[in-house]
Amino acid sequence: MTSAAASADLLELARDIAVRAGAFALEARRHGVSVAATKSTPTDVVTAVDRDTEELIRSLILEARPDDGIVGEEGAAHIGTSGLDWIVDPIDGTVNFLYDLPSWAVSIAVAEGGGADAAAGPGAIDGVTLAGVVCNPGSGELFEASLGGGARSTGRTLAVNRDVPLHQALVATGFGYAAELRRLQAEVLLGVLPSVRDIRRNGSAALDLCALAAGRVDAYYERGLNAWDHAAGGLIAREAGAHVAGPHGGPENSELLVAAAPGLYEELAELLRRAGLEA
Ligand code: IPD
Ligand code: CA
Repeated sequence: MTSAAASADLLELARDIAVRAGAFALEARRHGVSVAATKSTPTDVVTAVDRDTEELIRSLILEARPDDGIVGEEGAAHIGTSGLDWIVDPIDGTVNFLYDLPSWAVSIAVAEGGGADAAAGPGAIDGVTLAGVVCNPGSGELFEASLGGGARSTGRTLAVNRDVPLHQALVATGFGYAAELRRLQAEVLLGVLPSVRDIRRNGSAALDLCALAAGRVDAYYERGLNAWDHAAGGLIAREAGAHVAGPHGGPENSELLVAAAPGLYEELAELLRRAGLEA
């Protein structure tokens, strides 16, 4: 198992790469952005900046750690031999990025003992996440955590809100790109919205998990995430005190991710179950 000192080194490298990649994407944004291609549906877009940012991240990781593996949203794949895998979303919140809304982020995590989409099912992290960084160049904020080392943002220790009852909870969620998934998500929302303070749809799963860690929302859930959406943010939320889990309380994956402080987590998971989402 990687030592705390090694995790700290990985975190430092992830932070350095995320900051450089964020600055690159922000500069590219100033010159204008357009859709380069669509992916799963006509609204699931990729810009040239997503691709170029991922390529920059990939080259910086391999320059520093040539034996590690890489899994990236825009297709970066490198099979490593070290047992460590980097899970990269070059721009989480691509639609916000396209529209010049500030909620988008570079998300980089390092996991040991597996990569994305392996034994725990599609969208799961197979292995243990050791370090995670979410960098939001639009706000100038950076969120980070290492396993057992707590979560921080710009020198501040992060902690989730405690003892919030469900009916007072501000709950973040997100929607996928496929029409059928959205229909289901809208149906579940009908069961959730009357029972909570309100809902937020920020447009970046990575930043939703960081908002939970920072106490800016009380809970977050979503169905349909990929490993790169939640790998770094999931560690940051956990290290800030959140309980993060997936279907039936098992590992979070494409089926489901629910995250909140203990107590609220159980209440929300039960509400989601009653609303038709297995938790
Ligand atoms: C998306 C964002 C969004 C979430 C979607 C993700 P992308 O990632 O995280 O908030 O609701 O499920 O796919 O496409 O912007 O990288
Ligand atoms: Ca994403």
